[in-house]
Amino acid sequence: MSIETIQQRITELRSVLEEHNHRYYHLSQPVISDQEFDMLLKELEKLETENPEYFDPNSPTQRVGSDLNKEFQQVRHQYSMLSLSNVYSEEELRDFDQKIRKLTDLSFEYVCELKYDGTSISLRYKNGMLDKAITRGDGTFGDDVTANVRTIKSIPLRLKGTGFPEEFEIRGEILLPFAEFDRINEERDEEGETPFANVRNAASGTLKSQKSSVVAERKLDAFFYYLLGESLPADGHLENLQAAKEWGFKISPDTKKCSDMMAVIAFIREWNLKRFKLPVATDGIVIKVNSLSLQQYLGTTAKSPRWAIAYKYKAEQASTILQSVSYQVGRTGAVTPVANLDPVLLAGTTVKRATLHNADNIKSLGLHMGDTVFVEKGGEIIPKIVGVDSAARHPMSQPIEFIRNCPECGSALIRKDGEAAHYCPNEDGCPPQIKGKMEHFISRKALNIDGLGQETIDLLFSEGLIKNIADIYDLQKDQISRLERLGDKSADRILKSLNESRQVPFEKVLFALGIRFVGETVAKILAHRLLNIENIRNATLEELTAIDEIGGRIAESVKSYFSNPENIRLIDRLREKGLQMQIDEASLANRSEKLNGLSIIISGTFEKNSRDDLKKMIEQNGGKNVSSISNNTNYLLAGNNIGPSKLEKAKKLNIPIITEDEFLKMIDKM
Ligand code: IVH
Repeated sequence: MSIETIQQRITELRSVLEEHNHRYYHLSQPVISDQEFDMLLKELEKLETENPEYFDPNSPTQRVGSDLNKEFQQVRHQYSMLSLSNVYSEEELRDFDQKIRKLTDLSFEYVCELKYDGTSISLRYKNGMLDKAITRGDGTFGDDVTANVRTIKSIPLRLKGTGFPEEFEIRGEILLPFAEFDRINEERDEEGETPFANVRNAASGTLKSQKSSVVAERKLDAFFYYLLGESLPADGHLENLQAAKEWGFKISPDTKKCSDMMAVIAFIREWNLKRFKLPVATDGIVIKVNSLSLQQYLGTTAKSPRWAIAYKYKAEQASTILQSVSYQVGRTGAVTPVANLDPVLLAGTTVKRATLHNADNIKSLGLHMGDTVFVEKGGEIIPKIVGVDSAARHPMSQPIEFIRNCPECGSALIRKDGEAAHYCPNEDGCPPQIKGKMEHFISRKALNIDGLGQETIDLLFSEGLIKNIADIYDLQKDQISRLERLGDKSADRILKSLNESRQVPFEKVLFALGIRFVGETVAKILAHRLLNIENIRNATLEELTAIDEIGGRIAESVKSYFSNPENIRLIDRLREKGLQMQIDEASLANRSEKLNGLSIIISGTFEKNSRDDLKKMIEQNGGKNVSSISNNTNYLLAGNNIGPSKLEKAKKLNIPIITEDEFLKMIDKM
């Protein structure tokens, strides 16, 4: 390479890596695998070592990624939080072992641990009490997420037993078990929010939630793997972890001492498939020198310790044959293509189906019927097709053409500009859409009809007893009790629950209608601002978008819903059945206009009310809660531990700072 091309490549690699870092740490939307990222990083490291004249302290090789969040207070780590070098082969592991043996003649042991795939945390304990919980951040400064971490049940707030140092730090990984991940994503789907892509994003997204209540609701877990401090109980890393277990920390039971690299490699092979049986995600094995004094002697580089390394498993792949493509129609009419495959064993389970996402994906794979395809199970739980062996293709095989008509009702599919999915437009006549709408209507967060579930809806629909949501309210007892697996008791329960649903507040009824993009929060906003269904129906696009948080996409969807005469008839019938079509008096009584037109930003923690409650009070009194300071902000409502940058900005812009009590006085609550 000429000097010029070297310089060009270095600049290019730096900017590409920075972009991927940003996508990974800030947007939680990585577009390349860790392995691809590491290969680019290694290439850059090599070029920089060979050409030291291009050294740059701000190069991606000189720092660990950042996940700083401006909403949390940033604190300096007492011991910087390093990351680990990754290797992907047994050969690289042997190199790692050789390097250490060149530095020391002493005999030593390794400890092998599972590499949990979540988000890392550092906990500081003082006199046996949890003092602070800090995210990794950029390795030097992290976010103070103590309030959120306190809600994680498996983390001890007060230590058990004796023998712990007066002050120490313990580091570990915060995890979201698969079962909980599925539950949260189902909930998000129901609310029209984008599901989390994988457990890692879900765990870090949850940990950095501005609401501790949300964190508490989602059952995060944590395993700890690193103890730091002045007077630790032992010189052995594993022995220290065992002591930490006695103090109440969750330590992985699947940790093993190994006398040499052979034993390490055996452990790695053992867990290659076994790890898929665990309830949480793992993506490799961490290998550490056990002796702390040897660790100290070996030391660290700028980025990672010399005494530890991470072996990362390659995403499992298998090749199989594409038999056919089927198409699933969801509640909103979105059509998802699914590949039916010759069964193949992959990462411990038999795979028969894989998602194909959408038409563009099929096209970019260049998929033909009967193709030999490669399937992969990555961080996501549903396997996906990552490649096609076009050399193995039969010369006569035909490319996959995305269907033009709905497989369920035959309507011509449509595709809106800028959207990846095809839709079936036959909202009121397409069975999976009708059934999906009914299931949404009766679900817990909507009308919450006890005793009616997906199976019963299916049965009632196929028997021709219900054709739309309102028909549910016409059901007679004997029509239900006659059905298979149901009886008098179930019928009574369903009818009682239907009767009670007449008291369900308007905002939930509005959510239950299943208008696209009108999730729980939007339904609440619309109900509170426009008060009844007639006002919502008659509001113009301009009136709708004038409401904070209602954008063009939602407004258009609302207009389109009410322009369908079928929907108007449905609402009329539901009203006749006695469902609430206007906001109730009690929630109106709490409203005032005391903060009309005022924009208020909340920062810090408060003694009398939660941030959530304060936000509610602002809105109920006609104000607007904003999340960043600008010239248009009227007040900064400041609690304890308010972020220094926010305070500075408020002072600079001359924005009045008020306390919780002053705020309560403004709305006559004190
Ligand atoms: S030790 C200086 N042990 O992997 C050593 N890390 O790439 C610090 N991780 O930031 C890390 N399981 O989030 C260690 N058993 C384990 C781990 C582990 C998962 C994560 C951790 C760390 C990252 C390093």
